[in-house]
Amino acid sequence: MFDPIAFRSALGSFATGVTIVTARDASGAPVGLTANSFNSVSLDPPMVLWSLSLHSGSLPVFRDAQNWAVHVLAADQQAMSDRFATPAIDKFEGLSLGDGPEGAPLIEGCAARFGCRARFEYEGGDHAIFLGEVVDFDRREAEPLIYHGGQYGRIMRAPTGADLEREGLAEDTAAGLSLTDRGRDLLRALERVAKR
Ligand SMILES: Cc1cc2nc3c(=O)[nH]c(=O)nc-3n(C[C@H](O)[C@H](O)[C@H](O)COP(=O)(O)O)c2cc1C
Repeated sequence: MFDPIAFRSALGSFATGVTIVTARDASGAPVGLTANSFNSVSLDPPMVLWSLSLHSGSLPVFRDAQNWAVHVLAADQQAMSDRFATPAIDKFEGLSLGDGPEGAPLIEGCAARFGCRARFEYEGGDHAIFLGEVVDFDRREAEPLIYHGGQYGRIMRAPTGADLEREGLAEDTAAGLSLTDRGRDLLRALERVAKR
């Protein structure tokens, strides 16, 4: 058996986005939780999956739901992620509560949304794996929220040589592209922030 803490932290080296998955219970009440286990599965038919802890209070609802929706959070929705990761609170308080075309609660301001028809549930140890067929999706140009090593992060596109030159961070020399003093200072500052 692995050391569970070491295992969890090794899994955390896989950077993911952050989603909120929603559904309605049999009485029509909205249910949702933060999940980073979301992944794409199939393009044709369009299918996605995510996994839910068997300890989650939401498990019976997702087991019965005919439809659920995955909301890919934008970088400015960190507070929403924390809210939907807190058990036993009214997670939907103060949110305007429409449904998407598939019939699951719609959370506004996301980077993307996938409305799904529930298709299969698989056993996955201490999690249940839900596979859904995407029946509707929506996307807007928004920076996504990132999760890595148990912390939130932001996307940083790797700069090209042309980007660095334009910003005065590097110059083209006979030996190739080399950092300017400003470029070196900036790199050191970024490394200090990333290691904190
Ligand atoms: C970034 C992040 C990702 C998470 N991903 C998952 C996940 O994929 N599956 C899961 O069961 N719980 C996940 N959780 C924990 C649940 O959001 C949390 O336990 C939630 O309270 C469960 O919903 P419940 O209150 O209905 O039980 C995650 C939490 C965070 C902060």
